[in-house]
Parts: sequence; structure tokens; C-alpha cells
Amino acid sequence: MPQIPKDVRGARFTGWGTALGRRTVTNDDLAATMDTNDAWIRERTGIHRRHIGGTNAELSVESAGRAIAMAGIDPASIDALVLATTTPDRAVPATSATVQNALGLRCGAFDVNAACSGFVYALVNAHGLVAMGAERVLLIGTDILSRITDWTDRNTAVLFADGSGAAVLEAGPGQLLGWDLDADGSAEDILYCDHGGFIQMDGKEVFRRAVRIMVDSAQKSMAHAGVKAEDIALIVPHQANIRIISAACERLEVPMERAAMVIHETGNTSSASIPLALFDAVDAGRVKQGDLVLMVGFGAGMTAASAIIEWGGR
Ligand code: COA
Repeated sequence: MPQIPKDVRGARFTGWGTALGRRTVTNDDLAATMDTNDAWIRERTGIHRRHIGGTNAELSVESAGRAIAMAGIDPASIDALVLATTTPDRAVPATSATVQNALGLRCGAFDVNAACSGFVYALVNAHGLVAMGAERVLLIGTDILSRITDWTDRNTAVLFADGSGAAVLEAGPGQLLGWDLDADGSAEDILYCDHGGFIQMDGKEVFRRAVRIMVDSAQKSMAHAGVKAEDIALIVPHQANIRIISAACERLEVPMERAAMVIHETGNTSSASIPLALFDAVDAGRVKQGDLVLMVGFGAGMTAASAIIEWGGR
């Protein structure tokens, strides 16, 4: 189990921003074209509407532009860009290259694909770059799942959507207290998308495993950080299904009132899901300096990832 060395150089968020797909699609809109209905989608998933449209680079530039403006920094002073995504605009180059140029960055840029666990994977990588001397890292989670969703398949179409969340991470008082990155490639066939194809999913099996691996990863991060469930002020779970979130919270013994929740508005936006939920809670004033925040995601792979941060750094 990797532990964060005591004297490692730390970093904290100094700016953040989000963006959603261009067009709002309600459950009723979907019910007009396939055999589903608003009541079923709300009850079985927690989703009321979602937002789709725009390219990965467009949404990334929008969310990251807000994060850079909030941090009040010169884009040219950023030392690295890490973009978590499962849906790059092109196979080559990485979408982070397009975003790097559009934002006027002068640094290395790379994509990370860990499906819906991507933002936490990227977050841990970004902290590693700071530990290796980077002063500022731009961290983005963006997915355009609408592009790989079959809009005639009600098993998947009701779930997936588009969005982006970004943060500037700057060296200084450290926020990261514990982390865990997991993957189990033996479960690859229950959730995948081939080149040029659409997402294929065994929903029930994904659901069953999701709760288990989220809880397992969150418990590992809490053990690494030396904190207990009652110390967590805000849990930011991957926004895939409200029933998965509620089952995971129950097993972790973190009350649902402490969960960040945007699924009703966003649907499942994969790599964007955790930053969208986190920064919504922060902007709503739900997080104060020194609060412990637990992020926990799961996704295709199957991957799982979690991180505990102390808001504002210590
Ligand atoms: N609209 C209306 N009815 C639907 C439906 C839809 N979109 N999808 C399925 N149904 C029906 C089924 O036909 C079934 O009907 P029946 O009882 O008459 O046979 C009933 O609803 C229950 O179907 P079931 O497949 O058991 O639903 P569920 O409770 O397992 O929910 C998911 C389906 C996909 C919402 C749920 O399994 C899930 O969220 N899984 C995880 C998926 C996920 O998170 N993927 C991304 C991971 S990053």
C-alpha cells in the first residue's frame, strides 16, 4: 500500500471551473424516441436531465479557462497539463495537445484514460508531478459520452452525457492525505466500447461490482490517510446511479447528506463526474478550509480510485 512520504512537496487547488454539454436533454425527450419513461429513469438512476454536445476540446477549454481565471495565473506559467478522458476528439494526437494550444500553455500535455475513475487517477498523477518539481499543474476531466452512446439503446442512453471539470493545482500547503488506484482487467467485458462502436454494458454486473470496489478503494484511502468515516465532511462519489451512491455511502457509514450530488442534472459524465460534483458542492459553500473530502470513482476496466484531500491544504 503506497503511503505519501512525510516530507513530500504538497499542492492544493487554487482555481476550478466546470462546463456542460451544449444541449439539455430531458427524460421526456428520450421517452419520445425509445421505450422508457421519466418515472423509471428518475427512480432507477436518479437522473432528471443531462447535457450533450460540443467537442472534448471545447468543453475542456471552457472549464479550464474558468479554473485558470480563478487561480489568477498566467497560462504560460503552467508546467504540465493532465487531461482525464475516455473520449478524446481524435485517436492521435491526445486531446490535451489541442487544449494546451488553445489555452496558450507552454508545457507538456497528456491524456489519461481510466474511464470514470480518470479524474482521481489524473489527480494523483498531478500531485506526483508537483512532488517532482512542477509548480503548477492543470488538471481536467472531460468526457463526450454522447459520441459513443447508441441513442436507440435504452440500457445505456438514459445514463450517459457530456461534461468537463478542471482545476489548477499549485505547489504549497499539501491537500492530499491518502490515495488508492485500482484496476481489475478480468472484468473488461462487462463494460467496454470498441473503436467506432458504442458502449456495451452488463448493467446489473457493473452495479454489483461498483458498490464493492468503491467501498474497498475508499477504505484503503482512509486507512492510508489515517482517517475514519466520521471525519469525512464531504464524499464525492462517481455520479453513475443514485442507488450505487446510496449503497456505497451506507456501507461506508457516511450519511447521504454528506454526499456531493449532481447526477440529477448531469447524468453520468465519466471523467467529468467527480470534478462536476466536487466543485458544485464547493461553490455551494458546503466545504470549508480544513474539511476532509473523499473522492471515489469506479469505471470500465474495471478501475476504481479514491483520494482524501484536506480542503485548502495543511
Ligand atoms: N426504461 C424503462 N424500463 C427499463 C429500462 C429503461 N431505460 N431499462 C430496463 N427497463 C426495465 C427492464 O426491462 C425490466 O423490466 P421487467 O421487470 O418488466 O423485466 C426492469 O426495467 C428492470 O430492469 P433491470 O435491468 O433489472 O434494471 P436495473 O434496476 O438493474 O437498472 C441500470 C438498470 C442500468 C440503471 C442499473 O443496472 C445500473 O445503473 N447499472 C450500473 C450501470 C453503470 O453505472 N454504468 C456505468 C459505470 S461507470
